[in-house]
Amino acid sequence: MSVNLIVAVDLNNGIGMLNGELPWHSPEDLKFFKEKTEHGTVLMGIKTFLSLRRPNGLPNRKNIVLTTMLGSFVSNECVQVHNNIDIIRTWNTNNPDGDLWVIGGASIYELVLREKLVQNIFCSKMHLSSCAEVRIHEDFPLFITELFKQKQKENDVHWEIQSTEFMVPEHGPCITFTHLKNETH
Ligand SMILES: NC(=O)c1ccc[n+]([C@@H]2O[C@H](COP(=O)([O-])OP(=O)(O)OC[C@H]3O[C@@H](n4cnc5c(N)ncnc54)[C@H](OP(=O)(O)O)[C@@H]3O)[C@@H](O)[C@H]2O)c1
Repeated sequence: MSVNLIVAVDLNNGIGMLNGELPWHSPEDLKFFKEKTEHGTVLMGIKTFLSLRRPNGLPNRKNIVLTTMLGSFVSNECVQVHNNIDIIRTWNTNNPDGDLWVIGGASIYELVLREKLVQNIFCSKMHLSSCAEVRIHEDFPLFITELFKQKQKENDVHWEIQSTEFMVPEHGPCITFTHLKNETH
């Protein structure tokens, strides 16, 4: 159906630690991530996959992992290993009934945005300045602020805000959930 990117990012475009962990604990965001991606297909870079420490990937999802080192990682029933992004390019034609969720990390987010392969972005803006060691490039249309609204033509792609919801969870940082749709024609 569509290629969607899902990301959580802090106030300084931080998304993760070098060891692959997230620099915050947010049960509400993990719940959101699970609700969106469960029973779908998730695509991730090998570093993100290895940081899960699950040889079968995320449960209840088809897992696709990208690495250039095809010989080192073998596909199994739950995890397909690919060495290029052709699967994303042909996703909508070959999968009329299922969404593909691009779940990171930084290199994969940047790749799919640069190649303009994404129809929807689901961004969880974490309202904190974390100790993140990995950041997404600030040119990408992921900072959901007034600034973003003035910069709709980012990367020649026209992103429309579909919904924005601010949440003050019982545990963890406040979050703004934003859904952006690619309206480029
Ligand atoms: N906040 C969030 O929502 C979120 C979500 C996920 C991850 N993260 C964070 O993201 C960080 C990891 O990001 P990362 O960029 O270091 O690693 P990554 O994107 O998970 O994986 C990078 C690897 O993917 C492979 N790859 C990349 N592009 C490829 C291509 N075109 N074809 C084939 N293989 C390709 C390469 O593997 P080879 O070197 O083996 O070829 C590359 O080294 C961590 O800090 C993690 O916490 C954050």
